[in-house]
Amino acid sequence: MTFLKLIDQAPHQTLEINGDKGGPLTGSVTVPGDKSISHRSLMLGAIAQGTTRIKGLLLGEDPRSTAACFSAMGAKISDLDAEWVTVEGTGGELQEPDDVLDAGNSGTTLRLMLGLLASVPGKFFAVTGDGSLRSRPMKRVIAPLTEMGASIAGKANHTLAPLGVQGQQLTPFHYHSPIASAQVKSCLLLAGLSVNGDTTVTEPSLSRDHSERMLKAFGAQLSIDSATHSVTLHGPAKLAGQTVIVPGDISSAAFWLVAAAITPGSNLLIENVGINPTRTGILEALQSMNADITLENERDATGEPVADLRVRHSQLKGCHIGGDLIPRLIDEVPILAVAALFAEGKTTITDAAELRVKESDRLAVMTAALRLLGGDVTEHPDGMEILGMGENAQLTGATLDSYTDHRIAMALAIAATRAIGTTKIRRAEAAAVSYPSFVTTLELAAS
Ligand code: S3P
Repeated sequence: MTFLKLIDQAPHQTLEINGDKGGPLTGSVTVPGDKSISHRSLMLGAIAQGTTRIKGLLLGEDPRSTAACFSAMGAKISDLDAEWVTVEGTGGELQEPDDVLDAGNSGTTLRLMLGLLASVPGKFFAVTGDGSLRSRPMKRVIAPLTEMGASIAGKANHTLAPLGVQGQQLTPFHYHSPIASAQVKSCLLLAGLSVNGDTTVTEPSLSRDHSERMLKAFGAQLSIDSATHSVTLHGPAKLAGQTVIVPGDISSAAFWLVAAAITPGSNLLIENVGINPTRTGILEALQSMNADITLENERDATGEPVADLRVRHSQLKGCHIGGDLIPRLIDEVPILAVAALFAEGKTTITDAAELRVKESDRLAVMTAALRLLGGDVTEHPDGMEILGMGENAQLTGATLDSYTDHRIAMALAIAATRAIGTTKIRRAEAAAVSYPSFVTTLELAAS
């Protein structure tokens, strides 16, 4: 068998990887556009006055869901596959859609959009998502929106989608969020755009700040108090269309950072990666594990810092990942768990209970899968403990499942490249949510 094979088993795909056939990762790769920035550019473009031009938009399934929802509410969005995507904004006048808005698999689409929908007085919106999204907690945004005057009803005592939103004129509010969540923060800031007065969100530690940066660029007035992790949006605000250059997604780059770090002989350049400090926890965690990563050609792309990342193989060592670092690498924990298998010594991940309510229960799914490959992994309520086996770790191929979670599919694929024999990853098509070209890039980079 060759290095990898994608087998169609409609409606799903199984990815087969023969770890014996993989080689070092060399040369250079580019990663698709940042998912968080892609969603926000489409949404802000859709509610702004005038034209927004976007370069480098992620063409994954999640941003496509955002585009479809806002098209249904009157934004004119050009062909998503073109180099430049244009959004003719509604000038803050979202139309009542004819049908249910479908956010697909995307928590960001649903939670951020809810802030906008809840604040359109007199209009009704019904929203839903796929099976995974319909089981993810929505109370975290519905509760504070309700305190602002929103009227949202839903399944399971108004905590789960499908949801019905009767838009209202919302009122000023200061929310002390119990969790560091950019989705909660962004939802409320977007709702605050049509509030007469201030909307403030205080979070326990800083989550990604792409909304703050982009809202400012589109003309909103914001005040930020970094000492207390508070952001205030001074409403009402009218946004004006802008040009957005979307950098490569560091969460997608993370798969190549780890693949190269754990594969002897690797020396890989990952070009054009967003290095916003609220997202670079993965670099800090890997560097504290002794990874050899250097930043080259640091620059700025429409308000977001960008660099090329060079990663060379090195012997990793175990470490502790927890506390304020978690929100800054929240989506990278599955692939960090793979890195930890190849480290010398123990890695502990704590304060990461949020992973249980992502696209899958990532703590449970990763623990079970890595054990099937032969890893010594223990699941804890808020994290995992991984006993590293060093760079010569002897994993053995197994049959695994993505649980329809894109980041699980990709993290397991990287683990499979270092396992002996064949690993099968069922429902591997999930990768297309954030990284449609993942499998072809893996084949090019590692075979
Ligand atoms: C995102 C925020 C994070 C992250 C998700 C994207 C965003 O979720 O896990 O993939 O774009 O705001 P939380 O803010 O809920 O932690």
